Amino acid sequence: MKTIGVLTSGGDAPGMNAAIRAVVRTAISLGMNVKGIRRGYNGLIEGDVIDLDLRSVSDIIHRGGTFLYTARSPKFKTEEGIALAVENCKKLGIEGIVVIGGDGSYRGARDLSNHGIPCVGIPGTIDNDISSTDYTIGFDTAMNTAVEMVDRIRDTAQSHDRCSVVEVMGRHAGFIAVQTGIAVGATSILIPEIEPDLDAIIEKMKNSNKTGKKHFIIVVAEGVNIEGGVDAIAKKIESETGIESRATVLGHVQRGGSPTVRDRVCATELGNAAVHLLNHGIGNRVVGYKDGGLVNYDIFEALNMEKSLDFDMVEVAHETSI
Ligand code: ADP
Ligand code: F6P
Repeated sequence: MKTIGVLTSGGDAPGMNAAIRAVVRTAISLGMNVKGIRRGYNGLIEGDVIDLDLRSVSDIIHRGGTFLYTARSPKFKTEEGIALAVENCKKLGIEGIVVIGGDGSYRGARDLSNHGIPCVGIPGTIDNDISSTDYTIGFDTAMNTAVEMVDRIRDTAQSHDRCSVVEVMGRHAGFIAVQTGIAVGATSILIPEIEPDLDAIIEKMKNSNKTGKKHFIIVVAEGVNIEGGVDAIAKKIESETGIESRATVLGHVQRGGSPTVRDRVCATELGNAAVHLLNHGIGNRVVGYKDGGLVNYDIFEALNMEKSLDFDMVEVAHETSI
């Protein structure tokens, strides 16, 4: 391949810029040209494409967000949208594409590959919910931000002898909640993978209260299905324990900020690996990590994999928070 494209798609994640940089620098090192496709698949449909050289990715390794912008593109899911994207690839001489995003973005990459444009997917999402990899770019930064925020909340909860119920992101998965919850020493962690039992939490709080514990942190994954969300949980806890309670939704603060060392290093390694595949003429793949090592899989196979939470860690959290 002489020319490849790179795009970011779906929700942004800290480390995406580091991945774009790695793609551009690796491709140029291997003698290829790189085009940056802006706003995800929308950029392919609309031909919003820029040339990227070595210096156009200077000074971005430490920045959150994505300098190529990102989007969710409903039009790309239609035959018309894909046809326009393929036509633009041909017009612009784009022979392969590195797609940085989540599962949805992988589906788009699979469709493009099936239409003759080889793609390689890089896992980029704070949720860590991509089955074909143990780790996704952005997860570590998001959790470090969440932990920093909860530590602040804890200062005020402690001063007032209160309970703070904090919602973290994660879409339908509890990966962020479990590790954040352990790191902040949460009394309880509610995740979508386990049926929530508020009565058990209240009982646990009452028992801990008897042993001298006066402030509490409850971490709740956004995917937990409780009507009224964290506000309703805080109200119920307050009325049944008598402990004043407050609810906080951390929200998009978790998506921004300078990527951690782990995210920068993973993004660089994965970006490099993705380009090497395309350079060998290999497409329709995704890169990632399994059992500590770098792996790549067929996209179709990757999309059919399943991933489970580490339930042993849920037990660790439970036993260490009495
Ligand atoms: P993520 O990649 O973070 O999971 P989305 O699910 O929103 O985010 O997907 C990002 C984009 O990928 C979508 O806006 C769309 O352009 C493309 N995409 C998602 N699902 C499909 C699909 N089934 N077929 C083709 N493209 C898809
Ligand atoms: O997938 C990343 C994520 O931040 C999820 O944790 C969250 O559910 C969703 O995206 C929020 O999406 P939006 O930015 O569209 O509000």
